[in-house]
Amino acid sequence: MFHLDFLNNRMLIAVIALCMALGRHMYRYAALNEHRSDMAVATRQWTRDSQQAAYDLAMGRARAAAGISEGQHAFENTCAACHDRNRQLVGPPVTEIARIYAGNTTGIVTWARAPGLPQMPAFPSIPDETLHAIADYMLEFGKEGP
Ligand code: HEC
Repeated sequence: MFHLDFLNNRMLIAVIALCMALGRHMYRYAALNEHRSDMAVATRQWTRDSQQAAYDLAMGRARAAAGISEGQHAFENTCAACHDRNRQLVGPPVTEIARIYAGNTTGIVTWARAPGLPQMPAFPSIPDETLHAIADYMLEFGKEGP
């Protein structure tokens, strides 16, 4: 009888120890899994970001080699649909803008951040440096001449 109790106690302790180990394992597994999937997401994001950066760098170099400035590139992508050099499109010609804003790139940036009329969208996603580069380019591009 004593012998059996002794065995039961040992069995009980063994079972408890096993459960605790199993529980710890499951907890660790769940915690690690969450961490692993966070890391996988971060890694995918990092890969995309670095591919984008490499692409931007290559495109920047190609544009520089072709003599196209950041300002010209951004202007052509975001403004040229409505602003031609000489003709009135949706917005006034660049020559007219360059006349009004001569020496005042900040004025162009301020306008583009909060256009006075709803026909022109605001461009909150364009960084300040890019808008300034666009403004520099517009003043140069719109100078009086042929
Ligand atoms: C969807 C068309 C559209 C796009 C795209 C657009 N504009 Fe305009 N823009 C307009 C219109 C319309 C006006 C005329 C507003 C007015 O007559 O007062 C205007 C006027 C302007 C003016 C003159 C503001 C003044 O004092 O009269 C500036 C400067 C200007 N835009 C800069 C930009 C820049 C920089 C971009 C690109 C980042 C841009 N625009 C993109 C439609 C556009």
